[in-house]
Amino acid sequence: MRLDTLLAHVRQVLANAGIADHRSEARKLTLETLSIEPSSWLSDPDQAVDEAMCRTVMERANRLAEGVPLHRLLGWREFHGLHLRLSAETLEPRDDTEALVELGVAALRGHDEREGVRILDLGTGTGAVALALLAELPEAHALGVDLSEEALRIAERNAAINKLERRFSTQQADWFDGLDGLFDLIVSNPPYIESNAIEELDRTVRDHDPHLALDGGVDGLAAYRAIAAEAAAYLRPGGVVAVEIGRGQADDVEHIFAKSGLHRGDIRRDMNGILRALLFKTSG
Ligand SMILES: C[S@@+](CC[C@H](N)C(=O)[O-])C[C@H]1O[C@@H](n2cnc3c(N)ncnc32)[C@H](O)[C@@H]1O
Repeated sequence: MRLDTLLAHVRQVLANAGIADHRSEARKLTLETLSIEPSSWLSDPDQAVDEAMCRTVMERANRLAEGVPLHRLLGWREFHGLHLRLSAETLEPRDDTEALVELGVAALRGHDEREGVRILDLGTGTGAVALALLAELPEAHALGVDLSEEALRIAERNAAINKLERRFSTQQADWFDGLDGLFDLIVSNPPYIESNAIEELDRTVRDHDPHLALDGGVDGLAAYRAIAAEAAAYLRPGGVVAVEIGRGQADDVEHIFAKSGLHRGDIRRDMNGILRALLFKTSG
């Protein structure tokens, strides 16, 4: 089959399923599955695609139409310019999390990098946040922690894919349990959805992101309580904590950290204007 004909079939399947941006989703799914660069498609839209690959593309198109997210099908996505592999046990990193990365980079700017900046990423998943920070801060080192062993395996693989493995290590832990050392930045995008609200999430999230990455307990705030309770004991002098929050959680999270003597500093909004990342300091 010709590439443009295949693309037309994929577009039709996605349009029939009511996928709003079916044109761009069809293009990404088809070209990524076939490992064809957009420039190659544009210069030779009639190039031949073998039958087996056509079948693979159409199978994926049908699964996309059934609600499987595009990047789950591809098995990877880009975040902060990094190529990140995904697995069933890792959250698919979201663009909203760029706000947390930006806040973390701003907090560490001005640090004397020669002292060896140390970052702790709690609930690292694919390693998205830690690896994005390492990409921005060439002298920093990061420890990625997760309860999921499989997530840590993926995070290590992602560090290697992005040539950051020399400065990235992992440890399986329940938040701070069993951790040693002090850090300049403790960063976390923890699970923050209320347990009862998970069933109401869009099926592309509910059925494909791991519940361990979503479930924040009865009020969605359990992870913030666990992190706030111990964070100060793991900070170097002048160290800070940066967390991502869900919509409308800012006041509650600020209150939780204040009880542990950590006071709110800088903030960041996501691209929809929602308050998404908060910084906490031990004083002022
Ligand atoms: C919302 S995901 C964030 C993943 C990644 N940091 C990102 O931003 O894309 C939360 C992560 O916390 C991990 N997690 C959940 N409970 C945990 C716990 N008690 N201790 C350590 N990690 C935990 C999950 O496995 C998941 O990887």
